[in-house]
Amino acid sequence: MIRFLKSSLFVLGVTGLGVASAPLLAQDEVKIGFIVKKPEQAWFINEQDAATKLGQEEGFEVVRLAGEDGQQVLSAIDNLNSQGAQGFVICPPDVRLGPAIVNRAKQYGMKVVTVDDQFLGADGEPMASVPHLGMSGYKIGQQVGETIAKEMKARGWDPQSVAALRISNNELPTAKERTDGATDALLEAGFVKDNIFDAPQQNTDTSSAFAAASPVLSKNGRFEHWVIFALNEESVLGGVRASEQYGLSPDQVIGVGINGSGAAFAEFSREKPTGFYGTIAVSSTMHGRQSAENLYTWITEDKEPPANTETTGTLMTRDNWQQVRQELGL
Ligand code: GLA
Repeated sequence: MIRFLKSSLFVLGVTGLGVASAPLLAQDEVKIGFIVKKPEQAWFINEQDAATKLGQEEGFEVVRLAGEDGQQVLSAIDNLNSQGAQGFVICPPDVRLGPAIVNRAKQYGMKVVTVDDQFLGADGEPMASVPHLGMSGYKIGQQVGETIAKEMKARGWDPQSVAALRISNNELPTAKERTDGATDALLEAGFVKDNIFDAPQQNTDTSSAFAAASPVLSKNGRFEHWVIFALNEESVLGGVRASEQYGLSPDQVIGVGINGSGAAFAEFSREKPTGFYGTIAVSSTMHGRQSAENLYTWITEDKEPPANTETTGTLMTRDNWQQVRQELGL
């Protein structure tokens, strides 16, 4: 910001005309885009809110955009360019769009950072050239598995009678890391490997999880107890809703999600507990704020952000959700 103020003052000094200050300052304004794959999900709304708030504090503008498919992302970038934006933060709808998105940004001289879902290059490897901030998926997944194992024990469940509904999304690396972490922690705690059933979802939302979960539950009716995990709480909630429709009661189900956003708050606020036992909360406020700050500093001070920032999580249940929410600034 300081650099921009300085250059504005310099121009002012040269023209010597106070009245010229408004348009000259406007020209120097920093504007960034914040493009998300699921604009209706609480996690992403909060990220965009946090970035917008930071912009208000530090004096730059944040343009909130939806990018639910490749076409929409590319037109969002065109739109940002015509508005004079210098860069954007993005959680892409498909990580394989990375090279196309980077090309389009380069054409316009815009800087790009990713949040949550990291781009994959043409070689299928993470694009290390694009600064990224996201969850440490495997570790957070392990926390999910450990939480489930502990609660199974607390309820005195016999492992032989318990099945796992693993709502998977193996196309998305962070999703696979999370479900792998949860699986490993469960196995370590003595979960029966053959009792883990995959329900591959087409997307990362509640309805795709519901659709994936239902047939798996009906095919495996012999189990008395179910545990449910996935890449996020929206998907776990889809699994929990499917378990209710199938006829399981809350005390037969332990669902543990990831995110700690509005979807979980709504569930914990229900009068009676459901099969959604808890969620590993991560600060979407921090994700939105920090990724926007990284990009802003890159634009204004030419300081490239760290290549990869990994964030951690805290268990949130019906008992402590309000406190954790406060602690994480959600
Ligand atoms: C993915 C998921 C989101 C959220 C973020 C957090 O994008 O789809 O629900 O969990 O990761 O990094």
